[in-house]
Amino acid sequence: MSTDIRPFRPADEPALRRVMEASLEFDAFPGFTADEIDHEVVSMVGAPDGIALAVEDGVVCGFVSPRHENLTVHPQYRRRGHGRRLFATGMDLAAKAGSDEIDLFVPLSGPARPFAQAMGLSYRSSLWLLELTPGIAVPEPALPAGVVARAPGDWLPLQRYVDLMNAAFADHPSPLSWTVDEIEHAQAQPGFDPTTSLLVSPADRPEEPVAFVRAFLAPPESDDPAPVGQVRLIGVLPQWRGRGLGRELLRWGVAQMRSHGAVRIQLSVEAENELALGLYRRTGFEPTVEWPHWTCPMAAIPH
Ligand SMILES: CC(C)(COP(=O)(O)OP(=O)(O)OC[C@H]1O[C@@H](n2cnc3c(N)ncnc32)[C@H](O)[C@@H]1OP(=O)(O)O)[C@@H](O)C(=O)NCCC(=O)NCCS
Repeated sequence: MSTDIRPFRPADEPALRRVMEASLEFDAFPGFTADEIDHEVVSMVGAPDGIALAVEDGVVCGFVSPRHENLTVHPQYRRRGHGRRLFATGMDLAAKAGSDEIDLFVPLSGPARPFAQAMGLSYRSSLWLLELTPGIAVPEPALPAGVVARAPGDWLPLQRYVDLMNAAFADHPSPLSWTVDEIEHAQAQPGFDPTTSLLVSPADRPEEPVAFVRAFLAPPESDDPAPVGQVRLIGVLPQWRGRGLGRELLRWGVAQMRSHGAVRIQLSVEAENELALGLYRRTGFEPTVEWPHWTCPMAAIPH
């Protein structure tokens, strides 16, 4: 048996999907869906430098993407050391990306927890999937005076949009950032619909947005024929917070998803992000699935 860890190449996309789909079927983690795989693959392929693959006898059997906090080995290839090797490479990738720690999602069920313990990780915090109580009344959005809202379009250079996203998430409990290439790739996907996003700008500087929401209509799940609305990202620049923009953008996202036929509406939030969590709960969202993050500082890893 020969084993290898190597960088991801664009031609590996189908193999990456195969590993994720096999895990979806075998591990059946709550809240993880075929649609979620699509999003994650699109995001990974948009920033391919951050992924490494495990290969056994020429077959791709696992991957690590520290940025997505995801390390997965194909169910048929487990307990052969691929996870351990991917973890070591994941540390290198995280260090190259400028991070001083590696974070991974460790689902509550399955082998993840003993694996994470064996790798020296410890629990840090949890991301929660929230779902809006079906049928609950959510007020229509009403933006405060002095701002204007519109969908993204030619008026907004992609670089400015990405700068806004990055600035709005720079102080997030687990800071997030995006590149222009990545967002360009995501927006070039066949299912992308710009009308499910909205940007807010000061009325006197309409070309300079200060807040945004990105929602997405996911295909129906299981026996339910209705699409699933996902309010994927809401961001407000720090100096524009506290004026109700986040609340109104959330209301807009819910109204938009409902007008497209969604009955179930989901979003995810860091439990540490108490302000956002409070807003979502007051709007009628309830926690459904917990995704714990575990972490390990680089310095704690023996060399
Ligand atoms: C968790 C996962 C990545 C482990 O991959 P793997 O290739 O089987 O891991 P390794 O063979 O390198 O195992 C390394 C160590 O982790 C521990 N470990 C891994 N799986 C375990 C299990 N099922 N039960 C107990 N300990 C386990 C052991 O200490 C193991 O060392 P050992 O084999 O010398 O005893 C794999 O099971 C997986 O993909 N699970 C689904 C995705 C997931 O949960 N990812 C989150 C990872 S934090």
